[in-house]
Amino acid sequence: MTQLVLAPMEGLVDWRVRQLLSAVGGFDHCVTEFIRVSQTLFPAHVFYRYCPELHQGCKTASGLPVLVQLMGHDPELLGENAAFAVELGAPGIDINFGCPSKTVNKREAGASLLKCPENLYHIVKAVRAAVPDHIPVSAKIRLGYADKELFLENARAVEEGGAQHLTVHARTKMEGYKPPAHWEYLARIREAISIPMTANGEIWTVEDYRRCRDISGCTSFMLGRGAIACPDLAARIKAFEAGQEPVKQSWSDVLGLLLTYIDLLAQDGTTENHQAGRIKQWVALMRKGHAPAAQCFDDIKRIRAVSELQEKLQQDRDNPAYQRTEDPIAAE
Ligand SMILES: Cc1cc2nc3c(=O)[nH]c(=O)nc-3n(C[C@H](O)[C@H](O)[C@H](O)COP(=O)(O)O)c2cc1C
Repeated sequence: MTQLVLAPMEGLVDWRVRQLLSAVGGFDHCVTEFIRVSQTLFPAHVFYRYCPELHQGCKTASGLPVLVQLMGHDPELLGENAAFAVELGAPGIDINFGCPSKTVNKREAGASLLKCPENLYHIVKAVRAAVPDHIPVSAKIRLGYADKELFLENARAVEEGGAQHLTVHARTKMEGYKPPAHWEYLARIREAISIPMTANGEIWTVEDYRRCRDISGCTSFMLGRGAIACPDLAARIKAFEAGQEPVKQSWSDVLGLLLTYIDLLAQDGTTENHQAGRIKQWVALMRKGHAPAAQCFDDIKRIRAVSELQEKLQQDRDNPAYQRTEDPIAAE
């Protein structure tokens, strides 16, 4: 049975996006944006800020479990923070070994740890030892830092450290987010380890999913930018696997989702600046999934007042031309 995971995406997939995308359907669980652990055991409010779902059984409103993701370099400190997150209700801990950010990597966290598989081993082992046995610990890696030389060693280190699950973004740190993703390496990792594995990278369409599945041999997939560009991508994939016709979102449906997002952000007390920024960011990313998003982005990019933004989105939502549920993915 295919498993689909909504990717952690810092500055993009906040808890309201998790709420909205998990309600559209197709996903099996979500992961928080990374919480960067560098010097201290965080107080509870930090965990609640990144993962407000901790107040509701650590599930999204539609019932999907949310794993808490930690990133850092100090095994003991990561362990302490992981144990506290679990005390607060996290159903699992994911450890980030893939972040390419310069500031993060300068301080020896994220993807830079991939230069030495021992790093991964010690961190996973410490986190595993710090949380109760029934709580799964997982890790998310890339294929390497500058090259792919250590891709198997890093995967094995995660397994030997005691993780229950591994997610692999099929690119090195240096490859950033540039296509292609090297799904063929995933098959080799899958054969080298015995813990279950999730494939990640460059799945934008059902056809990408099918190719990634066939090349990697995986049954679990993490969707990042593809699910932002096309919010019903996970539902389409699940329908494809079930041999059913998916109920496809029209551009009008997508605009309805964005309008709900504004309401939810306002409910959370965020500033208008934040709300407008998030909407523009999302619409910009939707240009890869929905043809009308390009015009919409041009129309809204200079709007600052949220009321004006809402008016424009409402106008388009109610435009009959955008209510057709024809296939909106330009690439398909
Ligand atoms: C804006 C942005 C923020 C991200 N933040 C995180 C993060 O907090 N934790 C993490 O493990 N990966 C993070 N990633 C990586 C994604 O989870 C995913 O591995 C990557 O986007 C490749 O998948 P995709 O091709 O489906 O987007 C981020 C990616 C982007 C583009």
